[in-house]
Amino acid sequence: MSRKPIIAGNWKMNKTVKEAHEFVEAVKDKVPAPEIVDSVIAAPFLALDRLVADAKGSDLKIAAENVHFENSGAYTGEVSPVMLEDLGVQYVVIGHSERRAMFAETDETVNKKVHASFAHHLVPIVCVGETLDEREGGRWQAVVKNQVTKAFAGVPADQATAVVVAYEPIWAIGTGKTASSEQANEVCHFIRETITALYDLATAEQVRIQYGGSVKPANIGELLAQSDIDGALVGGASLQPESFLALVDAAK
Ligand code: G3P
Repeated sequence: MSRKPIIAGNWKMNKTVKEAHEFVEAVKDKVPAPEIVDSVIAAPFLALDRLVADAKGSDLKIAAENVHFENSGAYTGEVSPVMLEDLGVQYVVIGHSERRAMFAETDETVNKKVHASFAHHLVPIVCVGETLDEREGGRWQAVVKNQVTKAFAGVPADQATAVVVAYEPIWAIGTGKTASSEQANEVCHFIRETITALYDLATAEQVRIQYGGSVKPANIGELLAQSDIDGALVGGASLQPESFLALVDAAK
């Protein structure tokens, strides 16, 4: 089964609107054709309106880094899926480990956000991954299986195929430590087996699974050569246009 690679930059809390605009102007006409690779930038909320307008007519897609699960209401400081859909945002990162660790994101809110995203035509990029303690304690399978199972709860098979899962071992994020490509593939394969058990093989084979954690131009080729790794979610190395372009080019 051949799945189209998806490379997404996750800028986290970086770049002013001006800096974000300059980045998109520099890369938007240089990313590979969307039939070959999906090239996505996840940017802070403030920049999204501008970036969607900048990227219009190009093959670069714009993502939010988070979303609330309600459409509107008394949620000070939050952004709803209605607002993102209205802007023309196409993807949304959900359940990043930084949000789970620092902003009380739970498996339950992740699941609600997945449903809310589909209700508003946003493709969810759902992040899962274990801590170093969980890996060293031999618990990564239980942790990852639980996160995946809860994220997909109540999601029908025809939507499940569109979910992008990002496996990000927490111990490899921003640390310079990359999981070896075999280690990363072992978990991505395990995620696919988990999805097979939830649905069926045909569904699981369509789900794209990214690896994230210190991905850079020097290691992306080896990661993408693995059987179950269909792309990358990239933090630090997505902040410079040249480096982002090298990453999407490697996926061609
Ligand atoms: O979402 C991307 C991420 O958490 C990995 O960050 O800087 O290790 O590529 P980085």
